[in-house]
Amino acid sequence: MKLLLNVLKRIHKPAVYSSQPRCRSSSARSGLLPLRDEALIVGSNPELVQRLGPQVEVRTGFITEEEEGAFMQELELGLKKKRYEFDHWDGAIHGYRETERVMWGERCEEVLSRVRSGAFPEGSPLLGPVHILDLDKTGYIKPHIDSVKFCGSTIAGLSLLSDSIMRLVKEDDAEEWLDLLLPRFSLYILRDQARYNFTHQILKDEESVFNGQRVPRLRRISVICRNLPG
Ligand code: OGA
Ligand code: MN
Repeated sequence: MKLLLNVLKRIHKPAVYSSQPRCRSSSARSGLLPLRDEALIVGSNPELVQRLGPQVEVRTGFITEEEEGAFMQELELGLKKKRYEFDHWDGAIHGYRETERVMWGERCEEVLSRVRSGAFPEGSPLLGPVHILDLDKTGYIKPHIDSVKFCGSTIAGLSLLSDSIMRLVKEDDAEEWLDLLLPRFSLYILRDQARYNFTHQILKDEESVFNGQRVPRLRRISVICRNLPG
């Protein structure tokens, strides 16, 4: 069972860590996506938001506080036995501990079936274990692209305990970016180009500002489902 964690450690590409959006003037923040949860996605320009919009989703209130509690009850004991890791200078994730799980209790399994049926193409074979990533309040995820060797076209994650900001930056053009506000209890889905051609990162607390508004980043746990490469 250590295998997947090792695989996931290798999915991160240090080469792209330095790509940060530049010139984020307020006029560049006009790319609101009108058709969905508009307040949750902003980008470097409206065209990008329109174009990438269908491949990026944030569904607020996807789980209830009780369902979050069910996950915490299943996960907290195991997580508490691990220590947050801070010291990997070249790692993609800073201040985290993680685990993976195949078998879930009924409440969590119910939520996960909802994620699977809502996020993945029908019949798409999924990675068996669900990945759980626990970020300390000071933790963050640097820009990376998940391994195309081990993970397929779709990544779907639940956010527990804290709001956060996920930033997507085009791999070959740092001027093209989207910020997603991931509220606690929400589900995000990245597909296709958004998953393959853009790095994603979770901002650290000090940088956690969405569309001009401060979004305090507390300890955050994500529950991530992935499919297998086609
Ligand atoms: C990852 C990752 C995002 C999240 O583990 O590869 O990008 O929501 N996680 O925790
Ligand atoms: Mn990732």
